[in-house]
Amino acid sequence: MAKPWGLLSRFLLFSVAFALGMASNFLLRSLPNSATPTTTVIQLADTVPSAPPPPPPRAKKEDQQLGKEEGGGGGAGRVVMLHNMTDDELLLRASMTTASPRIKGISALQALGAPKVAFMFLVRGDLPLAPLWERFFEGHRGMYSVYVHPDPSYAGSPEKGSSFYGRRVPSKEARWGKSSIAEAERRLLANALLDVGNARFVLLSESCIPLFNFTTVHSYLTHSTTSFVELFDAPGFHVRGRYRPAMAPTVTPAHWRKGSQWFAADRGLALEAVADETYFPVFQQHCAPPCVMDEHYLPTFIAAFSGRSSRNANRTLTYARWTPGSPHPESYGKDLVTAELLEGVRNDRNCTTDGGLSDGEICYLFARKFLPAALPELLRLAPRIMGYG
Ligand SMILES: *[C@@H]1O[C@H](CO)[C@@H](O)[C@H](O)[C@H]1NC(C)=O
Ligand SMILES: *[C@@H]1O[C@H](CO)[C@@H](O)[C@H](O)[C@H]1NC(C)=O
Ligand SMILES: *[C@@H]1O[C@H](CO)[C@@H](O)[C@H](O)[C@H]1NC(C)=O
Ligand SMILES: *[C@@H]1O[C@H](CO)[C@@H](O)[C@H](O)[C@H]1NC(C)=O
Repeated sequence: MAKPWGLLSRFLLFSVAFALGMASNFLLRSLPNSATPTTTVIQLADTVPSAPPPPPPRAKKEDQQLGKEEGGGGGAGRVVMLHNMTDDELLLRASMTTASPRIKGISALQALGAPKVAFMFLVRGDLPLAPLWERFFEGHRGMYSVYVHPDPSYAGSPEKGSSFYGRRVPSKEARWGKSSIAEAERRLLANALLDVGNARFVLLSESCIPLFNFTTVHSYLTHSTTSFVELFDAPGFHVRGRYRPAMAPTVTPAHWRKGSQWFAADRGLALEAVADETYFPVFQQHCAPPCVMDEHYLPTFIAAFSGRSSRNANRTLTYARWTPGSPHPESYGKDLVTAELLEGVRNDRNCTTDGGLSDGEICYLFARKFLPAALPELLRLAPRIMGYG
């Protein structure tokens, strides 16, 4: 008896999740970016609010919630979450959204407005370059959405009114090189999939910057017919050497690939990755250091199926400068950020092995790693060199 009941309740959960998903997608779309009906507020016990600010002139829904939990005070020490679903609920709901949403014959994207780009920030805590991103986003509300996945212990909060406010997703610890990073990436994708307006999904870190203005980035991504996930094969310890025979027969050496963690996925790939119950668990189980899951899972997942690899550009849109022998790319602080550096990366045309770029096509939309100390110089150079701010 247990089994049919399990199936039935799973089916009911699916139906309810689906209905909720459809309903909230529309609600989400009809409201401004930073205030959504699913926003919940979590009070951290170990942070003491400083002097309470004067009460807001007009209590919004969010403020009323705060008022209830805090007796009308407020200020510091709150973590505002996008929702409080568990990973299981989240993945289930996300995997039931569609690759190209259609409602009664018309494309949902058409019905709901311009396709949006989801900017997904996988970070430790603060976003020191947020002021640069704010200038990049300015004037384009409705064409993007932001998701932030910090370490769960992070207690800071962006300013109200910032593009990052209320965009934090329930997170778990993500350790470099461990499967928890790949899980965090998938969690971000799942969150972003819940909004049917999102057509492209870009993974970023706190050290990433946009190299072009919003119009250029949005148009590049939404007009491309591929995802941008770097993938390559090479002999030696750092690529083929990381394959584990225990992954066979699901993951074969023929499909084994490596690539940068920093991807830009279309909706189809995002959905397939979130719904994947075949490759992901095998990687979780067997791809432990020196295997680095976030460098192998998505590239291999794509290479394993021609329907996916034919929709992938096999390169990343996020520049990083690697020096031979160093395990980390170069970091740019205050003194290394120059107009020449930024111009050089913007004009780089050497990102394909087969010289496949057409005239004027851009290699990199984003670049890393920029240190917090580089911010003033970046803000100064952005209007002249990068076309925003
Ligand atoms: C989310 O929060 C609401 C109340 O704010 C609570 O009733 C619900 O159980 C929570 N759900 C989860 C999954 O934590
Ligand atoms: C963005 O940059 C492109 C290319 O440099 C330029 O043609 C366009 O006018 C810019 N858009 C805005 C809104 O500044
Ligand atoms: C990308 O790589 C896959 C797998 O290695 C390959 O099948 C495909 O042809 C490549 N695509 C391009 C555009 O080079
Ligand atoms: C382009 O990249 C290839 C391989 O990454 C490298 O060998 C070559 O020197 C580069 N060319 C230029 C002009 O930078």
